[in-house]
Amino acid sequence: MATFYIDNQPYAVEAGNNLLHACLSLGFDLPYFCWHPALGSVGACRQCAIKQFKDENDTHGKIVMACMTPATEGTRVSIDDPEAKQFRSSVIEWLMMNHPHDCPVCDEGGECHLQDMTVMTGHTYREFRFPKRTFTNQDLGPFVNHEMNRCIECYRCVRFYRDFAGGRDFDVFAAHDHVYFGRHEDGTLENEFSGNLVEVCPTGVFTDKTLKKHYTRKWDLQTAPSVCVNCALGCNTIPGERYGTLRRIRNRFNHAVNGYFLCDRGRYGYEFVNSEKRIRQPLIKKERSGQLETDSQHSAIEKLKEILADNSNVIGIGSPRASLEANFALRSLVGPEHFFQGVSERETRLTSLALKILQQGPARSPSLHDVQLADAVLVLGEDVTNVAPMLALALRQAVRRQPMKIAERLRIPEWDDAAVREAVQQERGPLFIATTAGTKLDDIATETYRAAPDELARLGFAVAHALSSDAPKPAGMPDAVTALANRIATALKGAERPLVISGVSCGCEAMVQAAANVAWALCSDNRRADLCFAVRECNSLGLALTGGESINSAFEILMNKASAVIVLENDLYRHADSATVDAALATAKYVVAIDHLENATTTKADLILPAATFAESDGTLVNNEGRAQRFYQVLSPQDDIQESWRWLGDTIKATRDDFEAWSNLDEIDSALASTRRVFGPILQIAPPASFRIVGQKIPRQPHRYSGRTAMLAQISVHEPKPPADPDSPLSFSMEGYEGDPPASLIPRFWAPGWNSIQSLNKFQSEVGGSLNGGDPGQRLVESGHTGVKFFGEVPNAFERRSDEWLIVPLYHIFGSEELSVLSTGVAERASQLYIAVNDDDATRLRVNDGEQVELNLQGSSYCLPVKRQPAIPKGVAGLPVGLRELPFMDLPSWGKIAKL
Ligand code: SF4
Ligand code: SF4
Ligand code: FES
Repeated sequence: MATFYIDNQPYAVEAGNNLLHACLSLGFDLPYFCWHPALGSVGACRQCAIKQFKDENDTHGKIVMACMTPATEGTRVSIDDPEAKQFRSSVIEWLMMNHPHDCPVCDEGGECHLQDMTVMTGHTYREFRFPKRTFTNQDLGPFVNHEMNRCIECYRCVRFYRDFAGGRDFDVFAAHDHVYFGRHEDGTLENEFSGNLVEVCPTGVFTDKTLKKHYTRKWDLQTAPSVCVNCALGCNTIPGERYGTLRRIRNRFNHAVNGYFLCDRGRYGYEFVNSEKRIRQPLIKKERSGQLETDSQHSAIEKLKEILADNSNVIGIGSPRASLEANFALRSLVGPEHFFQGVSERETRLTSLALKILQQGPARSPSLHDVQLADAVLVLGEDVTNVAPMLALALRQAVRRQPMKIAERLRIPEWDDAAVREAVQQERGPLFIATTAGTKLDDIATETYRAAPDELARLGFAVAHALSSDAPKPAGMPDAVTALANRIATALKGAERPLVISGVSCGCEAMVQAAANVAWALCSDNRRADLCFAVRECNSLGLALTGGESINSAFEILMNKASAVIVLENDLYRHADSATVDAALATAKYVVAIDHLENATTTKADLILPAATFAESDGTLVNNEGRAQRFYQVLSPQDDIQESWRWLGDTIKATRDDFEAWSNLDEIDSALASTRRVFGPILQIAPPASFRIVGQKIPRQPHRYSGRTAMLAQISVHEPKPPADPDSPLSFSMEGYEGDPPASLIPRFWAPGWNSIQSLNKFQSEVGGSLNGGDPGQRLVESGHTGVKFFGEVPNAFERRSDEWLIVPLYHIFGSEELSVLSTGVAERASQLYIAVNDDDATRLRVNDGEQVELNLQGSSYCLPVKRQPAIPKGVAGLPVGLRELPFMDLPSWGKIAKL
């Protein structure tokens, strides 16, 4: 720690960081634009000027940029010095010279960093009376709106987009007073993290285009802490609601998880909550008409009770996209032996294997923050950007760890971003990517390797063997692959924080085992090695922890023994082939579906219960790290919608006299925690519903929320009583405690004078660090410390077939996920159907790009256009999975391809 002085008062700070960081961390208000805690300093805007003094006798001092000056022992500065204040005021005056000052029509208004900084510096009157510079805006696609006139040339956008996120289709153009930030021509921003421009830009140049359709000011949004449900990483979010509809998703900072950013699927994949296809009332198939008809909650429970009474064998099929509580409630209703995980046999097996490896092996599952600190990485089989997007963003930072030593040697501090990048140039740390197809991270990879899944696994086994002779050696490896394995092993061994990434996406058990062998070999002399498994959905790991057999076992029981099935938040047709699902559901006397939206499974149901989405329910999700995180209602469920766990709890209560009903979330969580030790920590994730601060709840509505008395006047002129919330310490009102709540309950970031997302500084223990009181979430999965017993079954080498191709799954950030694709922007970006083959194979098939082929796979045939992809190995073909146009296929699998 160092002692430094601000306006003659001593403060203790961590030595080495910059003065802006230090001042903000100490709670001082100091304006800034170009600096960003995740992007570092470049000294471009000159807004953070302060006066620095040599010593206590220096009365003149000099103006320095706080973001560019290190805080060292004895540093003396003044924020309040009149010259420094005058300097800052002049800077904002010239930055505002060309700014249109169109706050009333600007979507950023009310949460604008430029507005805040203008007020903070006291620049309240504009004196510039001449024509302002104007620009033509661009159409940047469905996610981000562009209004260049508002730009103050801070360069944050281009630094985020290009330097941080690796985007190449966005830049700064022109010069002098006509600097332009955009694309070289109109067109959709290609980078998967483009939506962060909305939060990174301190003005209204980039705003949320999806919010425009139902625009609401920040102060009129009801908000709550939530967790993204669009992949398994569990990024923390703040959804915003008005008039009963979800309006937008913003980032909720969690230092250990997503930091300051979200991917575009997470930010823009929310519109399904407002869908017209939502199920809003219970639907019961009536005997007389044979049709589903709407009915009351009471009748629905009675009907379910009747089904349970009539059928001694009722099974429950859970879901990887339903909360821990919902799965637990279903398991409690049908009994553990009748509860099945709602995913394919392959996915069940692989996810359980990954979980077991993390629980029993010595390698630790890293947080996303840990991933950023890894200094050598092997990716085995996962297309990270498309499967777990924010993991890709973390890897883009990880490859900077080793080159940072160059900057260290030159004594350039890490936060001095421009100098570091100048010193490091294109130098990158080791990142090896072994996948079945090209990936969007290839541009930063040290080496890439493309092969069929079993070959990738063999490479993994070879790396493990190179690290530890106790690990099995694959036989018959080509010399070139053995040499690659040795290079990977050397890089991982030489690293301080090596990381292995693999997962279930390839559908290859040997790959998961090979990844474990590599990580375990690295751990063998008590070193730290991280092992990260990508899993499929937001609660896949929670479901695996809940237990139960696969969907295939459920169908077997349904066809042989059971006469009724309750399906929880799951479209079974996405997890098993249509013929099997049809056959199984046809044998069931009763099919009960609990879900948010109509889907292929609900069309087969005799009883449908309307389930709350993430936005209307409270619950817990376990991300791929094994971190259990709580999400809260942002809008009170309307019509007859309620949380799945509440439907199921009400049913248990109605059917069992001995059952003490769960009256709120705390009670179901206590019951869940008591079932198995692994769930114990969920009671510590967040304070209980009874938690109060000075006797008050935490309001979801900000204290400037407007129109409350009038917004429902068309229904009643009397202001309705706010909905009760028995499940959390949050209230659906403006009234309540306005100070700092515990980190897991922060409904929005706001502080006096700080209306933009930058107010987050006031909620952190130090700027850029953890939230006060620690980051939300509790890890349920910790590595075991048992001795290493390597997996010993190395798969045989892949052999091409003359008349068949190995069809492997390819994932798409836009399109492969079930619910996000119901958002119009995501649907617009979703992948089209195709089959990817190697150039040689395309020649063999005598087809060109775009020409149709027939794929015969697992007894069905499909007509698909060909996409030539040189990176796909010969004898292998890639098929996009999860797209609405294609049914479920259990991949990898051999199939025939012929020209049409
Ligand atoms: S567009 Fe926004 S982030 Fe980019 S330079 Fe202008 S003000 Fe800064
Ligand atoms: S990476 Fe996954 S969890 Fe994070 S924002 Fe994107 S879709 Fe959501
Ligand atoms: S924030 Fe310091 S110069 Fe821009």
